[in-house]
Amino acid sequence: MGTASDNGILLQTADLTKHFGGLPALHEVRFSVRKGEVTAIIGPNGAGKTTFINCLTGVLTPDRGSMVFDGQELSGLPPHRIARLGISRTFQNLRLFPGLTVLDNVLCGLSAKAGDSLIEAFFRTPALRHRERLLRLTALEALDTFGLADYASLPAEGLSYGDKKRLELARAFVSRPKLVLLDEPVAGLNPDETERVGTLIRQMRRSGATLILVEHDMGLVMSVSDHVVVLDGGRRIAEGSPDDVRRNPLVLEAYLGKISLTA
Ligand SMILES: Nc1ncnc2c1ncn2[C@@H]1O[C@H](COP(=O)(O)OP(=O)(O)O)[C@@H](O)[C@H]1O
Ligand SMILES: [Mg+2]
Repeated sequence: MGTASDNGILLQTADLTKHFGGLPALHEVRFSVRKGEVTAIIGPNGAGKTTFINCLTGVLTPDRGSMVFDGQELSGLPPHRIARLGISRTFQNLRLFPGLTVLDNVLCGLSAKAGDSLIEAFFRTPALRHRERLLRLTALEALDTFGLADYASLPAEGLSYGDKKRLELARAFVSRPKLVLLDEPVAGLNPDETERVGTLIRQMRRSGATLILVEHDMGLVMSVSDHVVVLDGGRRIAEGSPDDVRRNPLVLEAYLGKISLTA
């Protein structure tokens, strides 16, 4: 049997099912992500996209089904263990620490990796201080990449909405995760800011990350995705290349009167 590393598949779900009070938010979803690709998940509001991300990150426990990441079953693992395996995410509604500086927010993205022992932290050993300096440098480098270096020492709450969205990206990416889950990264952004995020997504992909992109902005989905999966009512109703999916009558029907696929 092939493993995740030799067939190019980084993540595979099968039969993934999650109900809320009897209503299916996800129903028997089979889904796979190829290493190094951007896989978009689209679908109308309530389709189950965020629920899918919440299952993958251990925030929700699926009723049944499997989620195999890099050869390991994720089902039943708590969020911090899943993060340590190399999966990070952004949130549809921003989840920054408003009172912390921009730099400290990004440092939070590295904490899963830091692994300091209590003894070291108590005595502030030279080894620990050295590691802290390296973490700071890594975080500053990420801020630079995401266009936020000038704001490093400011409180995150003072940033514009567009800068906050990019700060979430920086925090998700700073640990160099194997898989980054982006939940509506350009919602509420103007076209220029959207284009900027598109460029950053391509940059993350080029530097070796695999991405899952949940997004309504079809211009962005079509321009950055290798593969598109369509959910509706918790079911996978279609998948394929961006062009296949755009022309699929089932997809057009699911979206009819909801949002424009030609935007
Ligand atoms: N924590 C929850 N409790 C109850 N119902 C929920 C919860 N989270 C999501 N749902 C329901 O599950 C369905 C899918 O929601 P969601 O995954 O947020 O969709 P999407 O992100 O595609 O808009 C919706 O009907 C939503 O109301
Ligand atoms: Mg959602």
